[in-house]
Amino acid sequence: MSSDFNRNKTKDINYTLHPYTNLAIHEQEGPLVICNGEGIYVWDEHGNQYIEGLAGLWCVSLGFSEPRLGQAAAKQFDAIPYTHTFAHRSNEPVIELSEQLISIAPESMAKAFFVNSGSEAVDTAIKFAWYYNNGLGRKEKKKIISRRRGYHGVTVAGGSLTAIPLMQNDFDLPLDRMIQTDTPNYYRFGESQETEEQFSTRLANSLEELILAENPETVAAFIAEPIMGAGGVILPPHTYFDKIQKVLKKYDVLMIADEVICGFHRTGNVWGSDTYDIQPDMVTCAKQLSSGYLPIAALMISDDLYNVFKDLSQKHGALGMGYTYGGHPVSAAVALETLKIYEERDMLGHVRSVSPHFLKRLDEMSSSSLVGEARGTGLIGGLEIVADKDTREQYPAKTKVGAAIAANALANGLIIRGLPGDVIGICPPLIITESEIDILFDKLEAGLTKTEDQMK
Ligand SMILES: Cc1ncc(COP(=O)(O)O)c(C=O)c1O
Repeated sequence: MSSDFNRNKTKDINYTLHPYTNLAIHEQEGPLVICNGEGIYVWDEHGNQYIEGLAGLWCVSLGFSEPRLGQAAAKQFDAIPYTHTFAHRSNEPVIELSEQLISIAPESMAKAFFVNSGSEAVDTAIKFAWYYNNGLGRKEKKKIISRRRGYHGVTVAGGSLTAIPLMQNDFDLPLDRMIQTDTPNYYRFGESQETEEQFSTRLANSLEELILAENPETVAAFIAEPIMGAGGVILPPHTYFDKIQKVLKKYDVLMIADEVICGFHRTGNVWGSDTYDIQPDMVTCAKQLSSGYLPIAALMISDDLYNVFKDLSQKHGALGMGYTYGGHPVSAAVALETLKIYEERDMLGHVRSVSPHFLKRLDEMSSSSLVGEARGTGLIGGLEIVADKDTREQYPAKTKVGAAIAANALANGLIIRGLPGDVIGICPPLIITESEIDILFDKLEAGLTKTEDQMK
């Protein structure tokens, strides 16, 4: 950090919206260039301070200055900077990490396979679903169902499950075999007089109709984030996963829980699957696995799948799957240290203790005329923005109201994100304290008030 760096400097910068991306940009200088960080704060190249209200990309759980993670990386660099996990090779940190991860994983998880990103974890889950069904001789059972507005990465296969138009348009996605069902957004799609439970029943029925229409013999898996993150912080309505899982079981369809955002305490439990009573056959996780400090992700699978893979290995000689950097020892060492810190500092207890204050302040944002619904759990929240609270009518897309709120918050020293469906996403580092939560929401409130004035 340069000696003249002023951490608390605030400049009156005018942010504007990028014409194509809708992101807030500095008028003259293009992208926001983040240079430094400490705790929940980051600083840009001009010395402006921001609260990272989205923990980077929903990942920096331990904040931007945890020294132990750098130390763990340095120690591992000294021991061995690279080995791999392809073709019957392993390394000590990855072995310890697998054991640690499985020990805290949803009950049915038995084995972990390490990759470098959430997208790769999702792609691997898709390949494993296909491999599994081939192993069982079910050659036709290959379709994967995701939900509209679900986010599962951007690779060719994972991006086919990310049912958000921006991520698919003109990329020739989705691929065949990838099909979509309803978004479980009760606030937006619940019918008048319909209870949350009735809404869940309707969505489960709709899923069943889809599976029947496609032919259950052709449907391999259903993938869902416990809470939809990038698609608009959508919490499952009451009884949703219970009803959905009954349908999946009935037609022998695998449940893949995409815990890339929800995993590691974000929802007030270790896993979103714990929060919503999901019994997955496969679990993807990433982001908070290493507090975002190094790229690492994992796909966990049940014994049921693993045993079929073992049999297939007799046939093929090995599992023909792996990445040069999958199970990288330095990333694994950092992930392991992250999990140790969660345990030592009782991160789960911390999230549970500050969450009520976070949710209270989130709820207070409903007093803004722009906020139709404030929703959240643990330390993740969303504000659904509307033009009219009574009718729930939204602003026309060209108004870019979500981006305007994000830009006004940014000018006020808060990074948050406008998500599809005009939702503002809030997902701060897990280490945030009650007083920092207050600062965050004071800034957000100011951003909302300014946007209200602009919308008038
Ligand atoms: C639920 C979910 N799955 C998968 C991904 C893809 O992860 P990555 O960006 O590391 O490829 C993301 C990224 O935000 C995500 O939120």
